[in-house]
Amino acid sequence: MNKEGAIGVYDSGVGGLTVVRELFSQLPGEKIVYVGDTAHVPYGSRSEAELVELTRRIIRFLLAKGAKIIVSACNTTSSVAIPQLEKEFPVPLVDVIRPGARGAVAATRNGKVGVIATEATVRSGSYQRAIQTIEPSIEVYAQACPRLVPLVEKGTLQGPEVEEALREYLQPLQEKGIDTLVLGCTHYPFLQPVINALLGPGVAVVDPARETVAEAARLLREQGLIYADTSRYRAHEFYFTGPADSFEKIGRSFVQLRDVEVKKAEI
Ligand code: DGL
Repeated sequence: MNKEGAIGVYDSGVGGLTVVRELFSQLPGEKIVYVGDTAHVPYGSRSEAELVELTRRIIRFLLAKGAKIIVSACNTTSSVAIPQLEKEFPVPLVDVIRPGARGAVAATRNGKVGVIATEATVRSGSYQRAIQTIEPSIEVYAQACPRLVPLVEKGTLQGPEVEEALREYLQPLQEKGIDTLVLGCTHYPFLQPVINALLGPGVAVVDPARETVAEAARLLREQGLIYADTSRYRAHEFYFTGPADSFEKIGRSFVQLRDVEVKKAEI
């Protein structure tokens, strides 16, 4: 491995761009190779076996493109697949769950944390485990939100459909008295203005992206693999396995990449 290697990032679609935005901010010299697996989105309703196999194929693809570290910018595969694949590859695999859990533990004052996530993430119990490993007394309430990823992928980030779905998903958590909400799916920060408006100022909203990228930076620093020279432009690579419409509609402007050319990948 050398410094020139890329940071490999993947998700089922545009969700991982919420982590890429944070990578651009914290590690501006690094080259990003991104895979959005839109041929198989949504991941949240897939089986564990499918998710492990898709993740394995994506990581192989990213390694072939020169990744020196992989950031799993997907809570679903971070919950279900990464724990099984951790020892299979020669580079560090960074998940979003443990960093997200750390952010939630730091934010809560009353010890009641809500998590919104996909069905597979909620079923895995990953956030409950990760949060209670750090602080066993914290009560964790997880809510599956299957309607949200399809809305974000079609580029609908506000309006009645989004508000109605979010109201339905957030209400049970508000009734539990949470003071902290983890955005346990990387697609959800796209909906954060509506989420903030519905929750009001009394609930801290945690996007695991910041802690996740801090963790990746720490691992790279430890191994002497940070590429910090921002004076040399290195072209990022963005691959989608299916349609890239969501990238064109909401993703490109979100990560401010006017010129990057999107390529097709077979996974
Ligand atoms: N954005 C991903 C996550 O964080 C995947 C969502 C999906 O495809 O269902 O879980």
